[in-house]
Amino acid sequence: MAFDPLDVAVLCCLVASVVLYSKKDKIISFLRGSEALDPLIGVSSNGSKDLLEIIEANKKDFLILYGSQTGTAEDYCKKFAKELHSRFKELHILCGDFDNFDFEDPNTLGNLVGKVKCLVIFMSTYGEGELPDPCANFDDYLNNVLESDELKNLPIMIFGLGNSTYEFFNGAAMKLKEKLVDEAGAKLIGQIGAADDSIGNTEEEYVSWKDAAFELIEQEFNLKGGENLLFEPMYEYINYNGADTKVFKGELNKNYLSAEKDKKHIGPFDQSYPFLAEVSESKELCNPVSGRNCVHVEFDISSSNIKYETGDHLGVIPQNAQEHVSNFLQTLNLNADEVFDLHLKDPTSTLPFPVPTNIETAVTNYLEITGPVSRQTISQIVQFIPESEESIRQRLVEISSSAETFHKEIIEAHLNFADCLQYVSSTFNWGQYIPWTFLLETIPSLKPRFYSISSSNLYDNNKIHITAMVEVTDADKLVGGVTTNLLNEINKGSNSKSLPLHYNLSGPRGLYKAESYKLPIFVRKSTFKLPDNADTPVIMIGPGTGVAPFRGFVRDRLVENSDSEMILFYGSRNIDDHLYKEEWESQYNGLSNLKVFNAYSRDPSMPKTYVQKLMLDQKDLIMNALKKGAFVYVCGDAGTMAKQVNDTLISIVSDKQEISVEDAHEMIKFMKLNGRYHEDVW
Ligand SMILES: Cc1cc2nc3c(=O)[nH]c(=O)nc-3n(C[C@H](O)[C@H](O)[C@H](O)COP(=O)(O)OP(=O)(O)OC[C@H]3O[C@@H](n4cnc5c(N)ncnc54)[C@H](O)[C@@H]3O)c2cc1C
Ligand SMILES: NC(=O)c1ccc[n+]([C@@H]2O[C@H](COP(=O)([O-])OP(=O)(O)OC[C@H]3O[C@@H](n4cnc5c(N)ncnc54)[C@H](OP(=O)(O)O)[C@@H]3O)[C@@H](O)[C@H]2O)c1
Ligand SMILES: Cc1cc2nc3c(=O)[nH]c(=O)nc-3n(C[C@H](O)[C@H](O)[C@H](O)COP(=O)(O)O)c2cc1C
Ligand SMILES: *[C@@H]1O[C@H](CO)[C@@H](O)[C@H](O)[C@H]1NC(C)=O
Ligand SMILES: *[C@@H]1O[C@H](CO)[C@@H](O)[C@H](O)[C@H]1NC(C)=O
Ligand SMILES: *[C@@H]1O[C@H](CO)[C@@H](O)[C@H](O)[C@H]1NC(C)=O
Ligand SMILES: *[C@@H]1O[C@H](CO)[C@@H](O)[C@H](O)[C@H]1NC(C)=O
Repeated sequence: MAFDPLDVAVLCCLVASVVLYSKKDKIISFLRGSEALDPLIGVSSNGSKDLLEIIEANKKDFLILYGSQTGTAEDYCKKFAKELHSRFKELHILCGDFDNFDFEDPNTLGNLVGKVKCLVIFMSTYGEGELPDPCANFDDYLNNVLESDELKNLPIMIFGLGNSTYEFFNGAAMKLKEKLVDEAGAKLIGQIGAADDSIGNTEEEYVSWKDAAFELIEQEFNLKGGENLLFEPMYEYINYNGADTKVFKGELNKNYLSAEKDKKHIGPFDQSYPFLAEVSESKELCNPVSGRNCVHVEFDISSSNIKYETGDHLGVIPQNAQEHVSNFLQTLNLNADEVFDLHLKDPTSTLPFPVPTNIETAVTNYLEITGPVSRQTISQIVQFIPESEESIRQRLVEISSSAETFHKEIIEAHLNFADCLQYVSSTFNWGQYIPWTFLLETIPSLKPRFYSISSSNLYDNNKIHITAMVEVTDADKLVGGVTTNLLNEINKGSNSKSLPLHYNLSGPRGLYKAESYKLPIFVRKSTFKLPDNADTPVIMIGPGTGVAPFRGFVRDRLVENSDSEMILFYGSRNIDDHLYKEEWESQYNGLSNLKVFNAYSRDPSMPKTYVQKLMLDQKDLIMNALKKGAFVYVCGDAGTMAKQVNDTLISIVSDKQEISVEDAHEMIKFMKLNGRYHEDVW
């Protein structure tokens, strides 16, 4: 959860004069006027954040924690906890988010030694090999509180999630090993898992790490390993007959269930309580001949108290397209209107989404029903198919037992969950056998998507702009991005009939209806910020949508009336997808020292050009700016662009300064450490 330190300080002073609140969540729930923590967030019913207290009160003896930014680590962690529970009934497992606990003295991890059999951690990596945002407290504990030998002999297992296109591959998991094992003396069991998104092996790495982990756990703790892998629901499923006003129809927070449509929401807003922002303006940035769509969207935040800074990220919470929803409901023969409630069987677990709700709403608003299907999920389905349906069982086993086959037949064909079942058999009655209770807890929850804010908080008062490239992977099979196609439909408005995907834009109970439409959003702080001193020169490199935050930077400086040097290297395929072309050509003339260089990579009238080439052409300009203390910013593709730009800079510095590549490398590294080289890459 992103929370500006300054805001917290101001809030604390305000609140302290009324009553002494010391904890962030308490401040937030105080400001929102709701006493109890949301069951979706809170770990135990009374909102305690003391891990040891919760473990003792709930008689737990096995701890599994996750640190996750976009939910991947969370999904795998919960899967792991569930499977471990169904295999080894004698373990009493507590599974939770690092964000849900305090690690300040005296609630340290050291308290757990001797109280739990083992600590298993699932951790993803962000930034320069850092822990995800929700782990801020825990990171602080690792850096400043954890003592040497504090975890002497505490058995620990670590599974890291990362993407090797980033420089610090699985840096957070490595940091855990260094701190918890090497320094604090915990006993590492087995290998550290290192999932790699870039080669799409997260699931495969997880499965093999998990299989090994179960064996090690069985040996280490002398367990009687049951082979029982049959599905056992985590929640009590109840048909709901209560008042309709209590039923969630896609609202993301109970504050939006209120009958008063025009109730003012004052936040603070975050992923669990987003702001419903009206799209006050939108436009297409690509020419039709480009064959692509890139949508510029402006959100009105004037009634929200939301503060952001240029360079922050915007979280947008989407819903699934109607085409995908009906395909899912039909394939699984689900009763869209069935209203249900879920009760926790274990008070330390959390609900997957707001309830009571109905099946159609859950499929539309709360579950990630598109995207590549998981091999493990397909293999779990076999248990529900009766022996009499031997051919179906056989097909499921056939495609899911080998990673290679699965990849070739399912992943490469871009099949989602429902598509995959239809591929196995389009006539079989899947819904007769696969229970909804299995689906609602096996299909991952629908995640927010992040966008680099392309407006300036100084120039664009009360507005947040984003620049989203519409993702279409296979138009014929309706494979496309959930959020970007939603934004595209909002932009196309009444012309949207011809689009392949359609959404219920009016939202739950018409809540999103406005002059245009509203969408649930929240701001996430970033460190991608202009230098404090407006006279410092900046070098900005952002091909494609990577230009988004730089548009904000330039608008900032327009307000500051700065005449300092701003150098932008931009690239697009050709003139037809040249984002904000007219703006660059006319709107920023007030900046006497703005220099923009454009590279076209697919213009037949010129050789393929990337930003790196233009940077080499401007060696002297770049070197002079660096000598004057310029800050460097790189935004966009992390795959190859960011690395090549880094290498280009190194070669420019080495060439112009006549120093070795190694020394130039050290210099760039030094710039990074000192906050003079920033990356916002994805
Ligand atoms: C910090 C940060 C900043 C970002 N800034 C920007 C920005 O400024 N502008 C921008 O445009 N993006 C930005 N992104 C990317 C953005 O968050 C989204 O990832 C992107 O817009 C796609 O989201 P979506 O919901 O449309 O697609 P998703 O639904 O997430 O789908 C992702 C891709 O998978 C494909 N797909 C769907 N189903 C399948 C299947 N079964 N098999 C194979 N492929 C499938 C889709 O077509 C799509 O291409 C940023 C990301 C991060 C992390
Ligand atoms: N890793 C990938 O496979 C990949 C590919 C595309 C987009 N993306 C994602 O989409 C975001 C931006 O997408 P977009 O649609 O706005 O971009 P885009 O329009 O596809 O690309 C913008 C420009 O960058 C060029 N480019 C490609 N690779 C480059 C490199 N290594 N160095 C410098 N320039 C390069 C493109 O050239 P070309 O004519 O060669 O494409 C194009 O001219 C990226 O940040 C990334 O997350 C990822
Ligand atoms: C903006 C961004 C930065 C990332 N930085 C790193 C990194 O430095 N090292 C790494 O190994 N993986 C990095 N990743 C990859 C994520 O750790 C990986 O996708 C992981 O599966 C995400 O898990 P989560 O959804 O639980 O947060 C990054 C991903 C994004 C989107
Ligand atoms: C609830 O809170 C009280 C006081 O903070 C504590 O003593 C009690 O043990 C807690 N109960 C549970 C179940 O966590
Ligand atoms: C949109 O969703 C609401 C429920 O939230 C529903 O009443 C309405 O019928 C839906 N509209 C369409 C076009 O499906
Ligand atoms: C890994 O990172 C690269 C660079 O951002 C990106 O192109 C790729 O899609 C990522 N892999 C996955 C599966 O997210
Ligand atoms: C930048 O380049 C240097 C030298 O080639 C390399 O060691 C470093 O990992 C690179 N950094 C990034 C972010 O790619």
